[in-house]
Order: sequence, then C-alpha cells, then structure tokens
Amino acid sequence: SVTHVVLTGGIGSRLWPLSRKTFPKQYLELFDGHSLFEKTITRSENVCNKTIVVGNIENYKMSNAIMAKIKRPFTHIVEAVPRNTAAAIAFAAFASKPEDILLITPSDHIIEGNNLYNTALQKAIVLANQDYLVTFGIKPTKPETGYGYIEFENENVIAFHEKPDFDTAASYLDKGNYFWNSGLFCFKASTFLAELEKQEPAVYLASKIAWEANHNGFLDYELSLNIPSISIDYAVMERSSSIKVIPAHFEWSDLGSFESVYDYLVQKGHPIDVNRNIVIGTSLHTTFIGVKNCILIYTSDALMVLQKENSQEVKQIYQQLEAIA
Ligand code: GDD
Ligand code: MG
Repeated sequence: SVTHVVLTGGIGSRLWPLSRKTFPKQYLELFDGHSLFEKTITRSENVCNKTIVVGNIENYKMSNAIMAKIKRPFTHIVEAVPRNTAAAIAFAAFASKPEDILLITPSDHIIEGNNLYNTALQKAIVLANQDYLVTFGIKPTKPETGYGYIEFENENVIAFHEKPDFDTAASYLDKGNYFWNSGLFCFKASTFLAELEKQEPAVYLASKIAWEANHNGFLDYELSLNIPSISIDYAVMERSSSIKVIPAHFEWSDLGSFESVYDYLVQKGHPIDVNRNIVIGTSLHTTFIGVKNCILIYTSDALMVLQKENSQEVKQIYQQLEAIA
C-alpha cells in the first residue's frame, strides 16, 4: 500500500506579500480554478491509494474544503505549531503501518508531465521496498542556494548537501555529478522512523510522545513545543548512508522564491521589459528606469520591489514584520 503524505505546513515566507500566513500560496486558485494543493493531490492518485495531509491549525479548514470539493477520503494530521518537516513526516509515519510505503510531497510545487512523474514514482517504490530512502534528482541549471544537492555516482548517492553557500553550489555545477533535491521523498514508514531514531533521537522521541497524545489527528501544543524544529534534509538526509536517487525527467518548479516564480512566469510568456524587469499583481502602468532584473509585487495591502538575485532575503523581511506585528 502506497500512501501519499502531503506536507502543507509551510507559510511560504519567501513569497511575502503574495503568500500570507492566513492564505499560503498552495491554496490560491491560480491555475484555471485549481490550487497547487489540489493539483498535488490528484497528480499522485495513479500510484497512491491513501492520502495523509499534514497541515496546521491555521490551514486545516482550507485543506478540508479542497478535499471535500474533490471528494477524496483522507487522514488529516493537524499540527499545533510548526516543528519543520522531520516531525511532520514522523507523525505521518507513526499514523501508518510500518511496511507502508510513503510518498512525501510538498503541496506547493509545479510538476508537469504526468507519465514521467508516474514512471519515476514506480521506480522509487521498488527501491523503497528495499529499505532505501529515495530522493528525486533534478538536473541543476544554476547555483541555487535555496535547495539541497544530491551528490551521485550512477544511481548511488555519495552525499546529500542541504542549502550550500553560493560558491559551494557553483563548484557542484562545475563538477557535474550533483542533482538538486526536488523535495519529494519515498520510503517505508519503518525505514524513515529507524533512521530518524538513529540520527536525531530527540526529534524521534518527542514526536512519538506528541503523536501518542493526539486527539483525532490534532496535536497538543505543549507537547509539540518539546520537538526540536529541524527539516528532514538536515536531520536525516545529510547523515544517512541508505539514500538512492531517481533522476526526475518531469517538469519541476519549486515556486519557493520570487526568483523561481520569475523564471516560471517568464518561461510561460509573462510580460518582461528590455532590462528583464517584471510586474506581478497589478495592471497599473509600471515603468522601470535604470534598473535591471527587478520584480515588483503588488497586493491590496503591500508593495515590494526586489532585485531578482536577492530573492532569498524576503524571508528575513517577513521575519522582521512578524516580530513587530
Ligand atoms: N506539516 C508541515 N509542518 N509541513 C511543513 C513544515 C511543518 O512544520 N515546514 C515545512 N513544511 C512543508 C512546506 O509547506 C513545504 O511544502 C515542504 O514542507 C518543504 O518545506 P520548505 O520550507 O518549503 O523547504 P525548502 O524549500 O526550504 O527546502 C526543501 O525543498 C527544496 C525543494 O523545493 C528541501 O527538501 C530542499 O533540499 C529542496 O531542494
Ligand atoms: Mg520549499
């Protein structure tokens, strides 16, 4: 049995002001009336026969509404407070049978090419059944610092490197035997839990205690605060020696930062001026003079202009705003 575990706990802070705590980007119906969340669910249905949504107290009603709209049965795990992906995935693994195969996906990526996607999943399931932690590798096109890198030799993974600095990322591109980590994973529930227990026993134990006290999938706030907040990438993938990688040939875009949104929109024919500046969110006449590679983002209550290359810094602005709010 293959269970699709949909992670929908993030707030997409690097896409502020488009993405808000009260309305994260995966729920925006930007794609012909379908949200990224809905497209994520339907995309994996050919291969998965169960769905677990791991979200939070701020968004579980939005997830419920979409699942009701598309009439899909699912298990809902609702976090009281975000503790990052290691714990979110641990809850889904605790809620499953040890031998269940879990396909972990974010809810906010663009993936196109369903046949190639299904083929990659089928290959991953074979390796997951052999107790590997399976990743999906994307051929990198630039030294992006917001991704993890998978160092490979054929289908063997030598090491996993989460979010390197720019110079390190550039050296990976030169060497050539590195993929971007797509953020999708596939493994048995028992394989993941055993690795987590080995690599980060504190996360394993605190997640287990919190999970055992859940009420209908809702986690307790105080018990959740005891869980160290760390991603699966740092907690498990950087340290494990049983990782495999499936080269992903499907079209993939993590709309995680304005730089990736920019690349996606431009590729889809969004207007761009001679100096490669773009406007998102308004039809107001907008002119850029003497500046290059800028993005102007307009929403009903906020306006931001940024240099495309500085997209990773939006997260800090978000954090500063949250500290004053
Ligand atoms: N339920 C839950 N709880 N979900 C969470 C939480 C949480 O506390 N934190 C993050 N998520 C969800 C996000 O909504 C997203 O769908 C997914 O987990 C990954 O989290 P991100 O915060 O978006 O991670 P990232 O983009 O910095 O890095 C990851 O994805 C990259 C590709 O997009 C890593 O796996 C990188 O290695 C990878 O390259
Ligand atoms: Mg992301």
